Amino acid sequence: MTASEPVHTKKGGGKVLIAFFSWGGNTRGVAREIQKQTGADMFEITLVQPYSTSYNTVLMEAQEDQHKGARPEIADLPTDIDGYDVILLGYPNWWASVPMPIASFLEMYDFSGKTIVPFCSHGGGRFGQSLTAIAKLAPDAVMGEGLSVHYSGGSTLPDDVSAWLSTNGIERQ
Ligand SMILES: Cc1cc2nc3c(=O)[nH]c(=O)nc-3n(C[C@H](O)[C@H](O)[C@H](O)COP(=O)(O)O)c2cc1C
Repeated sequence: MTASEPVHTKKGGGKVLIAFFSWGGNTRGVAREIQKQTGADMFEITLVQPYSTSYNTVLMEAQEDQHKGARPEIADLPTDIDGYDVILLGYPNWWASVPMPIASFLEMYDFSGKTIVPFCSHGGGRFGQSLTAIAKLAPDAVMGEGLSVHYSGGSTLPDDVSAWLSTNGIERQ
């Protein structure tokens, strides 16, 4: 092992990537708090053709994408994620599941030997069916313990994130 290689944690098992999609900024805020506490690399999933910035329109677009099983094209996607052992995967609860960009992301890579730890921002529906959806989209991944955050998470967010990171054995990178 050379000095440039990541220091491996005992439980969480290695180098961490925070990958997230956010439409309104709440999930991005959670991702930033996680980044602050871990120092992990971060990749924001953005689309070649972004969703509408209008709330009423995105509600319809998201529902339509879900119904047709769309796989929206992700911009500037990393060619591989081989260097990461743990993916902290963030998204808003959309229609009680993952936004379809998360499906696009998960289908791009081989997650065998990797752990996916979901974090989800929601408006009351917590994870909805999203954990099942992720398990189906990345059947070879080990699933960590998820974190659900109500909207932006409020004043308890730093403590909630810290407790969740410990539960998953994730230490500062
Ligand atoms: C298209 C769409 C669908 C949503 N569906 C749900 C839902 O089914 N259950 C829920 O609790 N919240 C739902 N919400 C609310 C979001 O999960 C919530 O506002 C979240 O904080 C948004 O995160 P973001 O700011 O990172 O996009 C929905 C929001 C949008 C835009």
